[in-house]
Amino acid sequence: MKIGIIGMGYVGQELAKAMQDNELHFSIEYYDPFIDARLCIGALPIIAIRRESIQELRDCEYIFICLPTLLNEDKTPNYSAFDDIFREISTILTGKTIIIESSVGPGTTEKYKDYLENQTRFTCGEDFYMGFSPERINPGDKLNTFQNTPKIVAGCGRVSYLKISNLYCFLCDKVVKADTTQEAEAAKLIENCQRDVNIAFMNECVMTLGLDRIDHNKVFKLCRTKWNWLNFKPGLVGGQCIPVNPYYLWASGFSEYEEPSTDILTMARRVNEWMPNHIVRVIHSLMNESFKGKDILIMGVTYKDNADSCKGSRLFDLQSELIKWGTKVDIWEPKGRWRQMESGKCDVVIIGTASKWVQEFIEDKGLCDLYKKDLPDNKRVLIDLPGIVNDYPLDYKYWRLK
Ligand SMILES: NC(=O)c1ccc[n+]([C@@H]2O[C@H](COP(=O)([O-])OP(=O)(O)OC[C@H]3O[C@@H](n4cnc5c(N)ncnc54)[C@H](O)[C@@H]3O)[C@@H](O)[C@H]2O)c1
Repeated sequence: MKIGIIGMGYVGQELAKAMQDNELHFSIEYYDPFIDARLCIGALPIIAIRRESIQELRDCEYIFICLPTLLNEDKTPNYSAFDDIFREISTILTGKTIIIESSVGPGTTEKYKDYLENQTRFTCGEDFYMGFSPERINPGDKLNTFQNTPKIVAGCGRVSYLKISNLYCFLCDKVVKADTTQEAEAAKLIENCQRDVNIAFMNECVMTLGLDRIDHNKVFKLCRTKWNWLNFKPGLVGGQCIPVNPYYLWASGFSEYEEPSTDILTMARRVNEWMPNHIVRVIHSLMNESFKGKDILIMGVTYKDNADSCKGSRLFDLQSELIKWGTKVDIWEPKGRWRQMESGKCDVVIIGTASKWVQEFIEDKGLCDLYKKDLPDNKRVLIDLPGIVNDYPLDYKYWRLK
């Protein structure tokens, strides 16, 4: 069976890999003008044919849309890539099943289905089929995979649902039916928004407890002994999903009333956006002297632990904020273009992520050599955002976020 994928980024590649691993031997074609033709997930190459235009996907029975969901400057959703792609798809639509896997606002799949029907005079469920199935993979997570994470599937009508769920049954252990595409779209966004809100509350606790008198991690440890405590941790919320999805949810605005009490998500976003600034204040207060001219190193800047990508990492906001305060900031991240690190150069070391390669560096080489040789221990600042350093000289000025 020929499968087309539009947008061969992280989500498109995971989907292609799941198909490639499948004994049915799908033949995969893709359209993505912005990436290299050699596709790789980890060490495994993906066998897929690169196409130069959507027209060349006309023989594919199924077409998956894995485009990025972007924001405009004013934080409103940007669907321009979807508009362009659906215009093209309308010219090759006959008999095809179109599935959106990107995280879109409630009503989006129906909107594009209506568009295709209007453009072609075809009927969904008879001449073509359409639905939504959100991708729920967690980059870097070896336990929760594409295959074992329940796959929510919604069709624009019964026939579309059956066509789509029949295919996913071969790829995933469990398919969960959503009655409407709007419900499935909302579910995906709300899953991520729930994380945003809970992490924001933990970040707010960190800010509220302050630096000197109460150790927030000791407080959280006590809280964890209660059976109904939810084990969220504070942190920098990065990437292209969690910080973006709240804006897609807001923009859908389905309520007919002006509700005075729908501010939780707004506040959560504000708290999480502020977090890099809070960390700068922590470092400043630990240094107890002017920031100007100090040398800082951030180790690990992927947007989350063990991710392959640095896209959307809030550690760059931390870097920019520190630079505004007059410091010099270097980065070390083997998963990016920052591979070199000079020893004997730092006043402050910031551990950004708990990625495997960061932990291995710390275990093999330790951190002491990174600091300026003549800098006394009690002037050395170590900021451990993921909370992975257990062994450091007692005189160091040490702070851990998690
Ligand atoms: N990465 C994740 O962990 C994850 C998890 C679940 C859901 N999602 C959602 O899935 C969607 C895709 O995410 P991603 O992480 O794969 O993004 P990505 O940026 O890694 O990939 C998107 C791909 O689309 C391509 N593209 C952009 N414009 C295009 C166009 N006009 N035509 C063809 N290709 C185009 C880009 O070159 C890129 O390769 C987003 O909505 C995201 O929120 C992502």
